[in-house]
Amino acid sequence: MEEIRRPDNMERITTPALADAFIAEQIRDIQAQVGDKKVLLALSGGVDSSVVAALLIKAIGKQLVCVHVNHGLLRKGEPEQVIEVFRNQMDANLIYVDAVDRFLDLLAGVSDPEEKRHIIGEEFINVFADEARKLEGVDFLAQGTIWPDILESENGIKAHHNAGGLPADIADRFELVEPVRILFKDEVRMVGRQLGLPAGMVDRQPFPGPGLGVRCPGAITRDRLEAVRESDAILREEFAKAGLEGKVWQYFTVVPDFKSTGVKDGKRTFDWPCIIRAINTTDVMEVTVEHLPDELIDHLVKRIIAEVPGINRVLYDFTPKPPATVEYE
Ligand code: XMP
Repeated sequence: MEEIRRPDNMERITTPALADAFIAEQIRDIQAQVGDKKVLLALSGGVDSSVVAALLIKAIGKQLVCVHVNHGLLRKGEPEQVIEVFRNQMDANLIYVDAVDRFLDLLAGVSDPEEKRHIIGEEFINVFADEARKLEGVDFLAQGTIWPDILESENGIKAHHNAGGLPADIADRFELVEPVRILFKDEVRMVGRQLGLPAGMVDRQPFPGPGLGVRCPGAITRDRLEAVRESDAILREEFAKAGLEGKVWQYFTVVPDFKSTGVKDGKRTFDWPCIIRAINTTDVMEVTVEHLPDELIDHLVKRIIAEVPGINRVLYDFTPKPPATVEYE
């Protein structure tokens, strides 16, 4: 395999002008590599794949075929945003795959965290491979590999090549296009901004590949998953209103699989708790807890109880990492 190097003397992309120069160079390189052929991209709506999509749209327009797989574990509004930004605003060739039932049926009754992750990863590849097999005349596969992915795979921490997970009949068909592979995350964001992607997409907080699946611990049910999605949307909305968006590193809700007694309108309830987690870190190995103002906590408790079916209690997780990890599974 070709060795990938970030040039030792490469200037860190810290200004819009440097990002513009990178974009112009990449557009030339992509056009030279791809010619008049077609390129396939799995577009999750995360920072890396979105920036790769925007770069390729600039370079080759409709020769790019984006596939957005909705596995049912995305945050509220995410599939709609991908369609709005890429299909409606950027006029991209976008295939939207509603695979929600496929994933949730496979995950039904599965409570082991590693098995859940495995099913989600494997089914993602199956769905994407199914779409790839339907397409004729596509010679290239684009990926949002970034420089830390390459460093981690060199150090044996994780494998970065998604193509490695594809079945051989698909993987062998494609040559890889990885236009942001020598960039650090902050550089990818800068490039995304210069490409005109919305701030909410470029500056978003980290989101695990298995999505809300890891925030619905144990066996995922549709109603509890909806409680995670709705409470997460309320939390994000309130953090934005409070000016905390972009200031707190990661924040989300978890709805564990147990119920407790409550009371509403004079009647007994027996519902799930919703746990709020808000944390800060520089290296992800060690994490500290964000202490929210009391008024914000009070407001979040009221909104989540009033608006999210199935929740009768709101808890705040004050545990740093270590000893707790960021996610619950
Ligand atoms: P943990 O829970 O390991 O999380 O302390 C550290 C950071 O990694 C994210 N995370 C994941 N990201 N796939 C991902 O792409 C995963 O399976 C996964 N698990 C955790 C987590 O959100 C946090 O930012």
